[in-house]
Amino acid sequence: MPKWNNIGAISKYKNENQWLVEIEGRPVALFKYNDNYYAIKNSCAHQGYPLAEGNLKGCMVECPLHGWVYDFTNGNCLSLPNKKIPTYKIREKNNCLEIFL
Ligand code: FES
Repeated sequence: MPKWNNIGAISKYKNENQWLVEIEGRPVALFKYNDNYYAIKNSCAHQGYPLAEGNLKGCMVECPLHGWVYDFTNGNCLSLPNKKIPTYKIREKNNCLEIFL
């Protein structure tokens, strides 16, 4: 059953950055861009490379393995329009971040 999962104090997440977070053994790629947070499945739709290790440019992350590019604000793959990465809701609560997963 999905639920909100606390991933720690907001203060440790600096702007224009990316992190790998584990929620009950499931890896999530977390991004902070323009003071907003975004969480996507940490697995490229091509061959599953971890997108938390991708190259950032604005709101886009490029998979280092073969170069597929994603918009992490909505999960859309910009390299192949019919591909998409699952996204997860994220919220701030009591100065902490929570991901719904
Ligand atoms: S595994 Fe990401 S582009 Fe191939």
